[in-house]
Amino acid sequence: MSYFNYQQADLYCESKKLINLVQEIPTPFYVYSQNGLIANFEKIDAAFSSLPHTICFALKANSNLSLLRLLAQRGCGADVVSGGELYLALKAGFPPEKIVFAGVGKRDDEIKFAIETGIAALNVESPQELEVVNQLASLVGKKVNIALRVNPDVDVHGHPYISTGSAFNKFGIDWEVVPEIYAEALKTKPMLNMMGIHTHIGSMIFNMEYYQATARRLKTLVENLRQMGAPIEHIDIGGGLGINYQQPLAMMVDGVLAPEVPSPEPQGLVDMIRPIFEPLQCEIFFEPGRSIVANTGALITQVLFAKQTRDKQFFSVDTGMHQLIRPALYGAYHEVVPLKQHAEKFIKADIVGPICESTDVLAKDRMLPAIKRGEYLAIMTAGAYGFSLASNYNGHPLPAEILVNGSQHQVIRHRQGYDDLLRHMA
Ligand code: LLP
Repeated sequence: MSYFNYQQADLYCESKKLINLVQEIPTPFYVYSQNGLIANFEKIDAAFSSLPHTICFALKANSNLSLLRLLAQRGCGADVVSGGELYLALKAGFPPEKIVFAGVGKRDDEIKFAIETGIAALNVESPQELEVVNQLASLVGKKVNIALRVNPDVDVHGHPYISTGSAFNKFGIDWEVVPEIYAEALKTKPMLNMMGIHTHIGSMIFNMEYYQATARRLKTLVENLRQMGAPIEHIDIGGGLGINYQQPLAMMVDGVLAPEVPSPEPQGLVDMIRPIFEPLQCEIFFEPGRSIVANTGALITQVLFAKQTRDKQFFSVDTGMHQLIRPALYGAYHEVVPLKQHAEKFIKADIVGPICESTDVLAKDRMLPAIKRGEYLAIMTAGAYGFSLASNYNGHPLPAEILVNGSQHQVIRHRQGYDDLLRHMA
């Protein structure tokens, strides 16, 4: 269900008319639906209710403290990949026993921070990392929960930049050698509480059979590890549930509603893996990012100029790849809709940002109602990997973030000013 909808000609986030918001808050800014966020989390959590489980929101998708607090208050856990994300997760109120920490390159200070915090699991990605974690745990004087990150060699046939579970990827330990590494650690590394396995096969997964294939591989692994006497208490299946970026709300292309590509249901995922995991009696960790936050956010922008070149119609807007890099980096599709619909005829155009790079195109060859300078647009489904990948490139201050609850809104991150561009510089 979308928490962004048109009522007559106006785009709303929940009960907030967005055209009213731009009178008050200068563009560009991100706007999020509080009830959308909560509903997405609760739907996933409910789908997993037949298994002992913890849902750990992947902070990399969006780490705004106000959004994190809403999730933490509802029993969600956190998946972090740096000391900074661990710090944010703790500040947001996620309990350490619901925090997992992954990543191929953790610095010693980050590992120590995780050990001192006493998190649910440090997901370790190499034999050398195990060695270092064991030494650091001795130094800190505290045992640490470890899950080995397994590379199951399952190809999800997705975008190569966001696929992680194949043997040629940098992530995890080849599944074939996991038992011997595990056995070695059990024997020789007393500060490691070897208690779980972790994997993450990629992002934007639509075919639940990839999860099933991974679950089968992990099950065999857990059985082998248990035969060796390893007490495997939890299996972390990573995140990656795909979502639909083609919103039906909008896109009246020449008066026709765009067809909706449905997002996979979390229940479909659980139905695939439950029969495999149930007999193992492990706690299942799931680390969704995108499927919790993507469709709860939009990036609001103003049209600066319309330009017709020999070949093309361009509309340049006041946001771009510095604030939403997904189209430039992955060729990702985001719906672009006007805050106020009008009856202009549709034309084919590119929506481009102000950045001095030819990849700074937010929407390519899109059918749009002829839009004019000063109009406002919403770039949809931008809640995940939007703000979190934003930068100050080309000297642009970071945009504000606004949270809508019903007809109320609050600023949950102030926009930067020019003075922020000087911060921390000598
Ligand atoms: N767990 C681990 C270990 C991950 O590496 C990721 C994502 C997740 C969980 C969450 O995956 P999700 O449920 O959000 O698909 N910037 C890209 C996505 C990169 C994903 C990286 N890892 C994009 O905008 O599409």
